[in-house]
Amino acid sequence: MNADFVDALRLETDFKLNPKNKYELGQFMTPSIISDYMASLFTQKESECTLLDCGAGIGSLSISAINQLKNITSVDLWEIDSLMSKQLKINMEKIDVNYSIYKNDFIQDAVDNILLGKGNRYTHAIINPPYKKINSNSFHRKLLRKTGIETVNLYSAFLSLTIVLMKDHGEIVAIIPRSFCNGLYYKEFRKFLLKNCSIEHIHIFESRNSAFKDYGVLQENVIIKLIKNKRQGNVEISNSKDHTFSDYMVKDFEFNKIVKPDDSEIFIRIPKEFNQVENEKIFSVPLSELEINVSTGSVVDFRVKEYLQYDMEGEIAPLIYPHHFIKGKLFHPQQHKKHNAIKIVPESKKWLMPKDGFYVLVKRFSSKEEKRRVVAYIVDPKEIYQSWIGFENHWNVFHINKHGLDELVAKGLACFLNSTELDQHFRSFSGHTQVNATDLRNIKFPTLETLIELGKSYKTSMNQAQIDKILRGIL
Ligand SMILES: C[S@@+](CC[C@H](N)C(=O)[O-])C[C@H]1O[C@@H](n2cnc3c(N)ncnc32)[C@H](O)[C@@H]1O
Repeated sequence: MNADFVDALRLETDFKLNPKNKYELGQFMTPSIISDYMASLFTQKESECTLLDCGAGIGSLSISAINQLKNITSVDLWEIDSLMSKQLKINMEKIDVNYSIYKNDFIQDAVDNILLGKGNRYTHAIINPPYKKINSNSFHRKLLRKTGIETVNLYSAFLSLTIVLMKDHGEIVAIIPRSFCNGLYYKEFRKFLLKNCSIEHIHIFESRNSAFKDYGVLQENVIIKLIKNKRQGNVEISNSKDHTFSDYMVKDFEFNKIVKPDDSEIFIRIPKEFNQVENEKIFSVPLSELEINVSTGSVVDFRVKEYLQYDMEGEIAPLIYPHHFIKGKLFHPQQHKKHNAIKIVPESKKWLMPKDGFYVLVKRFSSKEEKRRVVAYIVDPKEIYQSWIGFENHWNVFHINKHGLDELVAKGLACFLNSTELDQHFRSFSGHTQVNATDLRNIKFPTLETLIELGKSYKTSMNQAQIDKILRGIL
């Protein structure tokens, strides 16, 4: 079947789908150009193959794989949606291949097959699984636990089960959200993946809406190729601006650049710029070595309502929210629906920090449209008229054991955090717009001397080019 024909069928089927199911079942089908690329990543193309496609949709991925693999003995396809599976059957009938369609819940069938030792085991799998969070007491989570799999999303569940169902040295190519690469929720999944597979290849699309642009999906996706029970070697990382692959680039990286040997969080880092050699003068020491801490702002406003007030009267500490900064400068207090101050009473003291130095703040949430992920601000004690400060929960706060930092260190830190180098480095391991304290703890920082050097030139009013120039100046 030719690619244009499959794409036309894909859009036609999409039009007929029940909108409610689209979300519930994560029904975003892969354009042929991407499924052809995914299938091209298989290396064992001549040997006898048993192919798995779970959450098969209308079969776009299998069609591409069948075009590549020369000697297929069977194709197993799982598709729960009746409209999809009907079209899937029509498509598979047109191809001369031995196939079986299971119109069932893949998770349930896979768990049964694993526990009872039934069904096929596979040499190849090509998957675009559904994405949806699965709650810890849901039917799927309980089923998965029976096989020892603990994971938070349908996509990581489908991929984990696929890994179990593969034969030794079986090849898996999957297109999945990038969210598993970092963050606590996916740590178990990363552990499971790295224990059972080698990562052979990761492709990243620079544009967020590229892969599923026909569905308006704004999500960073990666294509990952895994081989079960193979020793980990170098990893091929490729990148293209979008799904046309017109500017495709690929490069080999040592595995320890992708998963750092001393990283207890086992983040999977994807180098963003191929010619970017991480500079050891900038990414030099862990935060703990600088004896600087970073933690989430401790004032959770809805939990401490009784201590909050709009005016600045009485025994209070200013309560600082992200909206109090405009173009990098603190404007406090402000007329706003959020409060400006927190009363200082014995109960509230534990959430406050003293005005005895400079604090550096990084927003925890940014919108997808914002240019930078990491945006750092400075709180200068000269701009605070009270003795204590409250940092609201939307911040990450850099401090020294709940005390302020030296002026030049704080400025140097803000300069480093606001640089393009850092933003690119951050994107190499984080796929979300959220910036957690754990993410920041995981970065290496310039040494104290370098921070002070940076701090001497940094001003909060600087633009991106000026900040980057200071950083280049110390290299
Ligand atoms: C992201 S779509 C991908 C479809 C197809 N693989 C493609 O790439 O075009 C995921 C598919 O999984 C199906 N699905 C969702 N939950 C499922 C389940 N529990 N078992 C089997 N299929 C499921 C959906 O109906 C949907 O067709």
